[in-house]
Amino acid sequence: MEIPVEHKKMVLVRAGTVEDIPRGEGRCFTIQDRRIAIFHLEDGSFGAVDHDCPHRGGPLSDGIVGRDSVICPLHGWRIDLRTGVVIGQEGKSVKTYPVRIEQGEILLKVQG
Ligand code: FES
Repeated sequence: MEIPVEHKKMVLVRAGTVEDIPRGEGRCFTIQDRRIAIFHLEDGSFGAVDHDCPHRGGPLSDGIVGRDSVICPLHGWRIDLRTGVVIGQEGKSVKTYPVRIEQGEILLKVQG
C-alpha cells in the first residue's frame, strides 16, 4: 500500500563527499530514484534542487553557478538555489532539498 506523502518521514541520505563537487560547480546525484543537482557555492555552502529544468528539462547541474543561483545551460532560466524559484518566470520552480555537511559528507534531507 502506498504511504501518503504527508505521512512519510524525512530521512538524511548520504549523497557524496565535499570533494566530489569543486567550488562554483554542480553535480548530478541519483537519490531514491530522483535526479538531484547539488551545488557547491563560492561561499562554501551547498544547495540542492531537482536536476531537470522546469522549462524543457535542461541539466541544471551543468549550469552556470552564481552566488546563490544557477543558470540553465539550455535557454538561460535562472533558478534561486535557496527557494527553487525561477526568477522572472511566474509560477515556475523546482523542489529544493536541505543539505547538511557532516565530517566532509554531503547529507540530503529527503522523504523516506
Ligand atoms: S531547459 Fe532550462 S531554460 Fe530551457
